Amino acid sequence: MGQVVQIEKPYPPQVDFFMAQSRYIAYGGSRGGGKSWAVRTKAMLLALNYPGIQILLLRRTFPELRENHVIPLMGKLQDVADYKSQDKYFIFPNGSRLVLGYCRNETDVLQYQGQAYEVIFLDEATQFTEFQFQAITEINRSSGMCKAKFEPRMYFSCNPGGVGHMWVKRLFIDRKYRNSEREEDYTFVRATVYDNKYILENSPNYVRTLENLPENRRKAMLYGDWDIFDGQYFPEFNRELHVIRPFTIPMWWRFYRVFDYGLDMLAAYIIAVDTFNNAYVIHEIHESNLIISDAAKKMLDVPWDIYCTFAPPDLWGRSQESGKSRADIFADNGLMMIKSRNDRVAGWLSVKEYLKPVQNEMGEIKPKLFIFEHCRNLIAHLPAIQIDEKNPDDCANEPHDITHSCDALRGFCIMRPIEAVKPPDESWKDDDWEDDLDSFINYGG
Ligand SMILES: Nc1ncnc2c1ncn2[C@@H]1O[C@H](COP(=O)(O)OP(=O)(O)OP(=O)(O)O)[C@@H](O)[C@H]1O
Ligand SMILES: [Mg+2]
Repeated sequence: MGQVVQIEKPYPPQVDFFMAQSRYIAYGGSRGGGKSWAVRTKAMLLALNYPGIQILLLRRTFPELRENHVIPLMGKLQDVADYKSQDKYFIFPNGSRLVLGYCRNETDVLQYQGQAYEVIFLDEATQFTEFQFQAITEINRSSGMCKAKFEPRMYFSCNPGGVGHMWVKRLFIDRKYRNSEREEDYTFVRATVYDNKYILENSPNYVRTLENLPENRRKAMLYGDWDIFDGQYFPEFNRELHVIRPFTIPMWWRFYRVFDYGLDMLAAYIIAVDTFNNAYVIHEIHESNLIISDAAKKMLDVPWDIYCTFAPPDLWGRSQESGKSRADIFADNGLMMIKSRNDRVAGWLSVKEYLKPVQNEMGEIKPKLFIFEHCRNLIAHLPAIQIDEKNPDDCANEPHDITHSCDALRGFCIMRPIEAVKPPDESWKDDDWEDDLDSFINYGG
């Protein structure tokens, strides 16, 4: 212990990153720009300079954390700080602590609730959802253990693309701020692989690989262009167009209930449809660990007179032991429903049709779907959900937590596609509706 840490000289953008003092500091934009090096080196410098400081460094997965941080830091801090492998933290002789963690699932961030860190690093921040980012900011506060005065601060490294593309882009690139967010709190330091001398000298093939990527991906990965590639499945989603303030819904509009259910998450929505077939998502239930009877109760406990409920087809699968399906159990608990359709790609295309701005009955350009601003999960998940790399027509299933709200909405849009909308008295002549009659249980509930 008590040895000197040998640290390489930072490159100019890394110096800017080290020197920045704002509340939120982001670094990067492209691959190989020395992001992970900058993150772990700054973490070490802070731990050494501020006795007692508490630091948290996060990556999405454990293998990434191990390769990019645990192993290099163990090498650098070998004679300087003690590594506690069970709890994954370095404890320094001056009382500083550097905790290393990962958040594979959306809710893994909740393990940090109640803790306090003066400094938090998110390496590859665009791999984190907005919910994870927000949950993490709540623990970025004074720990009471740092002996010097230190204003809490968060550092991010990032590339374009990933589930977090939208929130990182908004805060650090577009610099569009909401509510109490203040522009002066956000600093972005741009760095590309051409700023990283080590790679230019030691891995010219890596640079050539980036230079040979297809055009859009090259612009994002080599030059850090945030507008070209982001892998976002619903680029048409626009908060300013789709999210609206709640208003009192006339009781003669039609109210639909739609949901996706699993023990891991119930995502349920009430959608009101006006006389011009504009749809308004007015109510959200997004809750985990509800058994069927409790989920049914929650969904039934709403003040609107529901016209019908659409549910995912997998609920009709029968259990081998009881011979009953989950749809039967929902029905036993008073919730009658119609089986929605499982064609995912057609369903997503219907969602896109609803999101697309078109000329409305007043001559204005507006989408067909609006979401009340308190339906927070749907609003966060629609822009975050990614294209499935194996099937670009479909959405990715990871991170799984953000798929339930979108799946539920898909259940509504495919059952009520915009092109098929007809005046109410004509709707029963629609073939699609007849096809669904076999899965039709009841319009009650
Ligand atoms: N200032 C520096 N001095 C010496 N080597 C450096 C410096 N900065 C980065 N490197 C080295 O450059 C290589 C790439 O850096 P790093 O892994 O930090 O890049 P990155 O932007 O995180 O890459 P990726 O996009 O692949 O995650 C690593 O071997 C790292 O140790
Ligand atoms: Mg990296």
